[in-house]
Amino acid sequence: MKLRLSVQALVASSRVFAVLSLLFGSVTGDCECGYSMTTSSDNVQHVFTDLHETDFIHIDITGDGKGDASHGWAPQGYNISSQVSRGPFGESFAVRNVMSNTIKNPKIFDGPGTLGLDAGLLLLVRNVMQDDRVPVSEVSTTGLDYFYGTFRAGIKTTDVPGTCSAFFWYQNDTQEIDIEFLSAQFDKEKGLFPVNFVLQSKEAAAAGYDAANTTGLRRVNLPFDPSTDFHEYRFDFLPGKVFFYADGNLLAEATGSGVPTTAGHLLLSHWSNGNPGWSHGPPTVDAVTTVSYVKAYFNSSLAQRHQDFASRCKDPSASGAVCAIPDHNATFFFSAGDNLTPNQTEYGGAGNEGDEDNDNGASELVAKAWVFWLAFGIVIFASF
Ligand SMILES: *[C@@H]1O[C@H](CO)[C@@H](O)[C@H](O)[C@H]1NC(C)=O
Ligand SMILES: *[C@@H]1O[C@H](CO)[C@@H](O)[C@H](O)[C@H]1NC(C)=O
Ligand SMILES: *[C@@H]1O[C@H](CO)[C@@H](O)[C@H](O)[C@H]1NC(C)=O
Ligand SMILES: *[C@@H]1O[C@H](CO)[C@@H](O)[C@H](O)[C@H]1NC(C)=O
Ligand SMILES: *[C@@H]1O[C@H](CO)[C@@H](O)[C@H](O)[C@H]1NC(C)=O
Ligand SMILES: *[C@@H]1O[C@H](CO)[C@@H](O)[C@H](O)[C@H]1NC(C)=O
Repeated sequence: MKLRLSVQALVASSRVFAVLSLLFGSVTGDCECGYSMTTSSDNVQHVFTDLHETDFIHIDITGDGKGDASHGWAPQGYNISSQVSRGPFGESFAVRNVMSNTIKNPKIFDGPGTLGLDAGLLLLVRNVMQDDRVPVSEVSTTGLDYFYGTFRAGIKTTDVPGTCSAFFWYQNDTQEIDIEFLSAQFDKEKGLFPVNFVLQSKEAAAAGYDAANTTGLRRVNLPFDPSTDFHEYRFDFLPGKVFFYADGNLLAEATGSGVPTTAGHLLLSHWSNGNPGWSHGPPTVDAVTTVSYVKAYFNSSLAQRHQDFASRCKDPSASGAVCAIPDHNATFFFSAGDNLTPNQTEYGGAGNEGDEDNDNGASELVAKAWVFWLAFGIVIFASF
């Protein structure tokens, strides 16, 4: 059979393509207008345009050798003196104290408790001092553009007394939102497990950055032992308001001049400076706090991200354009789903069975459209 492409066939097939483009054009991908949540205390819905999800159980941020190994995170290395750390000891933040203990590639380290390590990002405070500095750990997002958002982390804290485990947002020393666990405050016998929610503000600066002395501190007793299991700790940074949660339950809120007004970055740290008013310690054995995931849904302060949002979000009221963020679900990642992160910054965050660049929704749709177009083309060809 001789295949011939007539003018009519070309016209017909380009019409089919136009219809298909229209169909696909009206749905550029799910969640293209952002991710939503409703704050329980005031029942207000907030939508955030961008996301950064990291599944530390499956993803090695310290570099597995392939592609962009950082996944948007940077383990920190710097030394600070006791004056700067505001305690009897200085601190040595070292990359070697940050370990990705993934399921696929388990790590061991030369400390006690090695066998009982959980999968996740291990943040260590070591017990052997280095030149009057405590060996401690910290990771930061490489992006500095987190300007409002809901920030969630799965954390299992150390139970070794004398450290501070922190999940926080930071711009500078007077624009900071912290969730801090002081292991010296845990009392297993009495069942007391406080968590400290702190806004480091001008007020905190005036109190010598001693969070214990400011009204920016809210201390809440958790109804569980945070050192025996992973729980989700979360803060929502909104205009003029910060909400703090554990396992989806609202525990504290802060308003007023302490609420930051700029963009910042997210950090996780585990430290000790021996200060008897806060971290206590240093610990007498190596202490490990483990992070299973971080999920950040946020608005970016970057003009490029605003442009990207404007070009992909045509109709926020269209079905599927805005996706609700599931409440307190440790295994849910939009970036593991099909096409739920259209043209978002690629961090390869979900660790989908080791498939690390799985979420380019936009190009997937273009590819699907071409498959349809080819299929229709073949049907048209065959009819001649
Ligand atoms: C985040 O950005 C979206 C889109 O511009 C906007 O509708 C929303 O109000 C912003 N959220 C906050 C808390 O500013
Ligand atoms: C911190 O100090 C130690 C020595 O105490 C040194 O080995 C290390 O390289 C320093 N770290 C940085 C990041 O400068
Ligand atoms: C922190 O940033 C804010 C906003 O940019 C600024 O007003 C404030 O002076 C800064 N504080 C410090 C300690 O640098
Ligand atoms: C913080 O409060 C404690 C006890 O109330 C006091 O001893 C200490 O000097 C205060 N610290 C600062 C920096 O004001
Ligand atoms: C949590 O998310 C996972 C993965 O998407 C899903 O299979 C599971 O049903 C969710 N759990 C709940 C309680 O919604
Ligand atoms: C996707 O994002 C990139 C980088 O931010 C931008 O240059 C590009 O125009 C965007 N593409 C679409 C289809 O929105």
